[in-house]
Amino acid sequence: MPYESGMPSTSPGTMSATSLNESKVENRRTGEPLLEIRNLDLSYADNIVLRRFDLTVDEGQFVCLLGRSGCGKTTLLNLIAGLIRPHGGHMLIDGKAISGPGSDRSMVFQNYGLFPWRTVLGNVEFGLEVRGIDRATRREAALREIRRLGLAGFERHYPGQLSGGMQQRVALARAFTKNPRLLLMDEPFAAVDLQTREFLQDELLKIWEAIRTTVVFVTHSLEEALYLGDRVVVLGPRAAGIQANVRIDLPRPRQSNVTRSSARFGELRYQISEALRGELQ
Ligand SMILES: Nc1ncnc2c1ncn2[C@@H]1O[C@H](COP(=O)(O)OP(=O)(O)OP(=O)(O)O)[C@@H](O)[C@H]1O
Ligand SMILES: [Mg+2]
Repeated sequence: MPYESGMPSTSPGTMSATSLNESKVENRRTGEPLLEIRNLDLSYADNIVLRRFDLTVDEGQFVCLLGRSGCGKTTLLNLIAGLIRPHGGHMLIDGKAISGPGSDRSMVFQNYGLFPWRTVLGNVEFGLEVRGIDRATRREAALREIRRLGLAGFERHYPGQLSGGMQQRVALARAFTKNPRLLLMDEPFAAVDLQTREFLQDELLKIWEAIRTTVVFVTHSLEEALYLGDRVVVLGPRAAGIQANVRIDLPRPRQSNVTRSSARFGELRYQISEALRGELQ
């Protein structure tokens, strides 16, 4: 069987960019709004999390969201994913109102969101299974993403048998099988060591450069937001809304050492850290 293998190697291979064209986002209209959020309100009892919140994300854009713990980043992603309903306002994707989860959006959760009782293959297939895709089609798509994410040989492993970085790749593979228009990522690399984190950032960018799907990526790391994003949005506390919205004009493809040590990277870091400092006052 193509997904059966012997002993896994200790380190996962790199993600493959060779088959990326297979899942290029179709009918992409780079530069036009894909996501439009207007006047969004969301509260938990008397805890107002979002008040008259606005955000627009263009098709093909990689937007990073920063903000202190509890400011509402996960809540916002859950709203966009259609997992919770707002108390007021509008959310449109491609001009259509968001009324629940949809195959146009994939979410990578803060804690990976893997099922411990399912194998890697079972986890990656899950997103297609719930959509009623037939077994052969979903297996083919899952195996393609597993290969792409450098997890070949680990198909029959359970999440508990994988490192944190590898579990993260399983979550990414599951998200990519849906070929989403919008990929929502909630601190996907927060739980891995710095070296693995920078490695995964580069792997994610490699895939993104090829498929150019639209991404909303939540992180606590300013460096990560700068390195990955086309735009960094800073959310303020206590439903204060967007405190800073900065276009990241660093050239692509980003190259770890070159990009991170460039003068422009330093300027942008300074500019956004000032906004974050203001947000803490
Ligand atoms: N299911 C829930 N029930 C009640 N309150 C909630 C619920 N989920 C979130 N909250 C509250 O909403 C606010 C925003 O939470 P959220 O998880 O969106 O923050 P966050 O910005 O993602 O934080 P972190 O950076 O720590 O992940 C917090 O005050 C939190 O306590
Ligand atoms: Mg969160």
